[in-house]
Amino acid sequence: MESITEIGRTGSALTDAQLDAFRNDGLTVLPERFSPAEVGEINAALAELMTEEVAANIREKSSGAVRTAMGLHLRHPVFERLVNDPRFLEPARQILGDVPVYAQQVKVNAKEAFVGEQWQWHHDFATHHHEDGVPEPLALNMHIFLDDVTEFNGPLMFVRGSHRAGPAPASLDTTTTSYDLWTVGPEVVGPLAEQGGLVCPKGPAGTMLIFGDSIVHGSPPNMSPWPRRIFSLIVNPLANRQTTMRRADHQHHRDFTPLG
Ligand code: SIN
Ligand code: MN
Repeated sequence: MESITEIGRTGSALTDAQLDAFRNDGLTVLPERFSPAEVGEINAALAELMTEEVAANIREKSSGAVRTAMGLHLRHPVFERLVNDPRFLEPARQILGDVPVYAQQVKVNAKEAFVGEQWQWHHDFATHHHEDGVPEPLALNMHIFLDDVTEFNGPLMFVRGSHRAGPAPASLDTTTTSYDLWTVGPEVVGPLAEQGGLVCPKGPAGTMLIFGDSIVHGSPPNMSPWPRRIFSLIVNPLANRQTTMRRADHQHHRDFTPLG
């Protein structure tokens, strides 16, 4: 099998249309970025890590299934290589400019078949700012679909353009799911969605998605018989790094070595 690092050397840059989509809509979808063989390699590594009883495997409140497996680049060489893949770093450089970035968070949100729970409406910057003291909403959340994402298995929904007026007001929800989250209430999501509409990226495993730190998003529970695993790498410029260091390392890494 070709290794992730060998395959990842070409075709990483965003087109002008993809960059425009990121700037205007707050997200951009990149089809067929990772091959079925690469996704298979990632899923095999993930399967090993999901069996571990560690704090970085966060479980669903009701079922106990792993909701999120974090700190992955410190736990398996496949993920250690993946965070340095040009398919992440080249788009990050195009969006952020030629500045060093670090791996802020490296995880898979697993959304297991039948029992995967929701992600409430939120934007990532609310947590990054309030919990970690990140100054500006510059971080990029870069996903790889590890399963086909369909209308059935709990796809992410985004409020198109909701980043444009700046980060929406948020409050901390410690009760709804097993993962404390700074969430955005219906009184804020409603008008934003009236204005920009919702967008729900779907696609086969291997699709990539990039979104910014202040776009409002969430996802419904997974009632379907199929899992919806998504790899997520959050990169942040070193100059915008966390200042609080309150959360666990797997929630916001303290190694500020530049990627790439
Ligand atoms: C999800 O996995 O559905 C939510 C992920 C996120 O908020 O980044
Ligand atoms: Mn999020």
